[in-house]
Amino acid sequence: MLSLKNRFKHSLKYRLIITFFVALTLLISGIYSYLFVMNPNLLIGHILNEQAEFLIDEIYTNSMGEPELSIQKSNQDAHWVWIYETLNEDLFFQIVDPQGEVVSASTRQTKAFAPDNTSYNKHTSNFTFTRNNKLFYGLSEPLKAAYTGYNIQVATSLRLLEVFQITKRSPISKTVLLVSILSLFIVSFAVIITIHFMLRPLRKASDIASKITPQNIQGRLSMAEMPSELIPLISAFNEALERLEQGFKVQQEFLATAAHELKTPLALIRGEIEMLEKTNSKNLILEDVDHISRQINQLLHLAEVRESHNYTFQDITLVNTVNDTIKYLSRLSKKHGTSIRLIQINKDIHLNADASTLFILLKNLIENAIYHSPSGTTIDITMTKNTVSVRDYGQGINEEHLNLIFKRFWRAPKQKIHGAGLGLAICMEIATFHGWKVTAKNSSPGASFVLDMSP
Ligand SMILES: Nc1ncnc2c1ncn2[C@@H]1O[C@H](COP(=O)(O)OP(=O)(O)OP(=O)(O)O)[C@@H](O)[C@H]1O
Ligand SMILES: [Mg+2]
Repeated sequence: MLSLKNRFKHSLKYRLIITFFVALTLLISGIYSYLFVMNPNLLIGHILNEQAEFLIDEIYTNSMGEPELSIQKSNQDAHWVWIYETLNEDLFFQIVDPQGEVVSASTRQTKAFAPDNTSYNKHTSNFTFTRNNKLFYGLSEPLKAAYTGYNIQVATSLRLLEVFQITKRSPISKTVLLVSILSLFIVSFAVIITIHFMLRPLRKASDIASKITPQNIQGRLSMAEMPSELIPLISAFNEALERLEQGFKVQQEFLATAAHELKTPLALIRGEIEMLEKTNSKNLILEDVDHISRQINQLLHLAEVRESHNYTFQDITLVNTVNDTIKYLSRLSKKHGTSIRLIQINKDIHLNADASTLFILLKNLIENAIYHSPSGTTIDITMTKNTVSVRDYGQGINEEHLNLIFKRFWRAPKQKIHGAGLGLAICMEIATFHGWKVTAKNSSPGASFVLDMSP
């Protein structure tokens, strides 16, 4: 388990969210400081511009063919009329003709607005000037089409702008701040959701990958819904799996073919030895040949149970397979002076399993029990709903060997009983393929092997 700190450090999701959060915060504060703190004039210019644009639409041509805008002659209910009338000390508009004469104005002013100590210039667009000891921000904008040469001028006093907090150094009102923070969280939440869904195909892919084992190497990662940036990685991974599967197949085929090729000559050798005269060494040689045959057979079984196509899953009755195995081993058991007892017989246990490999598994467990049982003892087989256990009354297993016995070719040191050391490895392969577990423990006296088939 990764610690919380490491999860933050290594998670793509958290890294993207943090980067996004920092970037968005910087962007918002950047925009605010540019607009309001570093450049308040920008906002004032914008306000004046809007006024001018609005007033241009209200201009009409008077009887002398000049552009005119008169508070008295306009609709008295209009907002702008009311505002310019009420704030007539702080808010002005006027139309100036090409000669710089005021032809129409919000109050009785007669002079065109111009920066202090300069005269009117129709090309000066943004400026400040003083009037009645008050500072004003002014804007002059040329009129178009029929009124070419005429300018509309609007002016707003600094004190009015201050009333509306437009020139203050920290003008970010609480609402604006709140809305910004809220949108930051909403957008971050949207990013979290998007990333979560973007990573969904990756999670699916890792689920599939975690199920790929030597027994189930055919699985491939799906590219459906995968972000395009990850497709090269996924297809490279799939190609690597393809190569592994091929290599694995070659190895399996080699093992199976080699074991097969050795079986026939060994059978011939055995036949020839049997025809020889009885000598002391004849039995020893026959024992050796049997031992090699056992090893070859076990190798073949190991190769077989590792191939998924050797498994046919179907509904089987557990007691039938157990009985088949006992019957198959009854001669061997008799030869060793042991007997096999089925302690609990539950005829109704059904499983979805491959009967032939389950037979091999039980055969190896019971064989071991027979070989390690003293003559005259029994081998107890107990069946419960989800388990089958095989227990003998032999010498048991050395405690420090309990975690070694399932390893391939491992056999207890100085052991007189012959064997290939592969039986339990075969059992483990079969159990794993079925999704089962096989474990060993000492039962004093003797050893118990439990096959756990619970889902
Ligand atoms: N019931 C048992 N009692 C005591 N020791 C056991 C028992 N079953 C297995 N062992 C130990 O575990 C070892 C591995 O068993 P495994 O079945 O894998 O190989 P094997 O029996 O030696 O050879 P083979 O592949 O021919 O079965 C055995 O050699 C033995 O030392
Ligand atoms: Mg064995």
